[in-house]
Amino acid sequence: MRGVIQRLLRGGPVRTGSEINFDVFPDVHGGDAPVPHLFESVLDGFALRIEHGFLGGNDNLRFHSRAGEVAKKSATGRAIFDFCARTLNLSARCAIVWAMVDSEHPEGAPASHIGTERKALEPCTIVIFGASGDLTARKLIPAFYHLYKEKLMPPVFRIVGFARREKTDDSWRTELRAALDQFSRTKPVNNAVWQKFAQTLSYCQGDITDQAAYHKLEGMLTGFGTAPLRENVLFYLATLPSQFGIVAENLHRADLLHKNGAGWQRIVVEKPFGHDLASAHSLNAELTRFANEQQICRIDHYLGKETVQNILMFRFSNSIFERLWNRNLIDHVQITVSEKFGVGQRGGYYEEAGALRDMVQNHLLQVLALIAMEPPVSLESEAIRDEKVKLLKSIRPLSPDDVARQVVRGQYFAGTVDGKPVAGYRQEVKVKPDSNVETYAALKLFIDNWRWSGVPFYLRTGKYLPQSTSEVRVQFRPTPHVLFAAQSGLKLDPNAIALRLQPNEGIYLRFNGKVPGMSLGVRPVRMNFSYDAEFGAYTPEAYERLLLEAIAGDATLFIRRDEVETAWQIVDTIRAGWKDKPLTNREFYAAGTWGPVASDDLLAQSGHAWHEPLPAP
Ligand code: BG6
Repeated sequence: MRGVIQRLLRGGPVRTGSEINFDVFPDVHGGDAPVPHLFESVLDGFALRIEHGFLGGNDNLRFHSRAGEVAKKSATGRAIFDFCARTLNLSARCAIVWAMVDSEHPEGAPASHIGTERKALEPCTIVIFGASGDLTARKLIPAFYHLYKEKLMPPVFRIVGFARREKTDDSWRTELRAALDQFSRTKPVNNAVWQKFAQTLSYCQGDITDQAAYHKLEGMLTGFGTAPLRENVLFYLATLPSQFGIVAENLHRADLLHKNGAGWQRIVVEKPFGHDLASAHSLNAELTRFANEQQICRIDHYLGKETVQNILMFRFSNSIFERLWNRNLIDHVQITVSEKFGVGQRGGYYEEAGALRDMVQNHLLQVLALIAMEPPVSLESEAIRDEKVKLLKSIRPLSPDDVARQVVRGQYFAGTVDGKPVAGYRQEVKVKPDSNVETYAALKLFIDNWRWSGVPFYLRTGKYLPQSTSEVRVQFRPTPHVLFAAQSGLKLDPNAIALRLQPNEGIYLRFNGKVPGMSLGVRPVRMNFSYDAEFGAYTPEAYERLLLEAIAGDATLFIRRDEVETAWQIVDTIRAGWKDKPLTNREFYAAGTWGPVASDDLLAQSGHAWHEPLPAP
C-alpha cells in the first residue's frame, strides 16, 4: 500500500483537474486476490473512491481524476467500482484510509457462505397490493430495481401493481421512475437498466374488496403466457392489516392462492402485525385460512439489515466471543435504538402505536433475541426461529409492580434539535393535545435461563433523541480494582463490546490500555472493526435482502407466528401496567435530549448508567 502512496507523491503535487493515472495495488496481483475494499485518495479538489471489488489474475485498474472517468480492466472475477468526485477545499494530499493486502488475508479465501447455497430462483410474478402507496415508490420498486441491476432477480419475472386509482402501465412506470430518481440508493439511476426493468412492470386497477378485480388479475397473470408466471406468485400486502383477510380470501376464490397446488404462492405482510396479542392472533387466523404458515413472510425490516444478520455470525462463528457470552462474564447488556426525528406527519398512526408497539414489540425484541439466543442446532430457518422463540419465552414475565419498577416511558416536549427549535409531541399533527402516548420507552428485562440468569438487559428507544443510532453494548463485569486503583481511582472502565448496527456500522471492543509516558496512567482504548473500511460501502437496503428471501422461500429473516405472539404478550403486560396512568412530570423529556430522568434512574438502581453511542463521524 505504501507503494501506491509513494507513486502518487512521487508524481508531484496533484492539482484540480490534473490527470492521475496509475496502477492500483500492483502488489496484490497474482491469483484471485481480493483487492482493497476501500481505497480513498483525497486529492486537491477531488475525493476519489473505489469501493468493494474483486480483481482476478493480472487485472489492474486505472482511473483518472477528471470527469469521473474510470477506466477499468477486469478480465476475470467480479468487479464493482463506484466512482464519485466531490469538491473539497483541501490542499494537495493523499491518504489511504484503509487497505488490505494479501498478508492480512492469510487464508486468501472467499467469504464462506453460511447455510446452504441458494437454489436458482424460479420465474415468478410479484403482485403488490396497495401499489400507489408510499412504500411501493420509496422502498419496494427501488429494491427490485437494484436486485435486477445486480442480476439477482429470477431469470424471468413480472411485477404487477394492484391499486384503486386509474393508471396505465405507462403512467405507473413514469411515476415510479420519478420516485426512483429520488429514492434510489445509487444515483444516478442507470437508464438502460431502468428501461429493461420497466418492461416487467404492469398495473392492474381494482378495488381490494371487489371479486371481479381478482379475476382481472388472474387474467393478467395467465396472459404472461407461462405456467411459472401464473402459478409462482409473491403477494405483497402493502395495505392496512384489516384488509389482509379479505385479500387472502379473494385471492383464494380467484384461484390465485392455494395451500397445496401448482407452483408456489407466498404472502408478504408488514408491521404493524396486530396491535395486541388478541388482534395478532385473529390476523394470523385469517391469513392461515388460505395459506400455510410457511407461505407467510412477516417482515421486520431490522432483520434485513446486514449488521443485524451479522449478530449470529459474530456470535457463532467466533469461538472467542461465544465463550464470554454468559452471566459469568457479562454484567449487563444495553440495546439502544434512538432516533433524531420526531413523529413528523405520522401522528395519527403514532397515537395508536406509541414507542412500545412501534419499536419494542418488533425491532428491539428481535435484536434482543439474536443477541441472547442459544446456538441453533442447524442453520435451517426453523431451527433459528425455534431458538428465538425460546429466548422470548424465557424473558421473565412482568407483574404490574415490575412494570412500575422496570419500565419507563417518556414523551418529548418542545426542545432543540440540531440547533433548531422543534415542537412537542402534543403539538404534532393529528396528536391529541393531552395525549399520553409514549415516544420513548426503556425496559429492564431478565432472561430466566441458565446462560443469563441475573443479567439485566436494558432496552431503550425514542424519538427526538440526540442521535439516530442503533447499538448493542455488551458490558463485562468489572475487574477487582486492586492493581490500578491509584491510577484510575474507582473509575477503571469495564470492558465492553459494542455492536454498532447503524449508522457507522461496525463492532468495537473497549478495553484499558497504558497511556504512553513515564507514568502508569490507564485509559480506555478501542479496537475497531468498521464495515465501510472492511467491505466498502456496499450496503444493500434491508428490503432488497428481504424481498429476495421471500422470492427464494427462505423464512429465516421473517417472523414466525409464535414469535409475533410471544412478543405481543410481553408488550401487552406492560401496556396493562400503564393503563389509566397519565404520564408524570418525570416522564417528559425535552426534544433533543436522551430521554426522561426516570430512564437514568432505572439503571442507577443497579449501579449502571446508559452509555451514549459514539456519534457518527
Ligand atoms: C419503523 C417505525 O418500523 O422503524 C418507525 O415504524 C421508525 O417509527 C423506523 O422510525 C426506524 O427504522 P430505521 O431502519 O430507520 O432504524
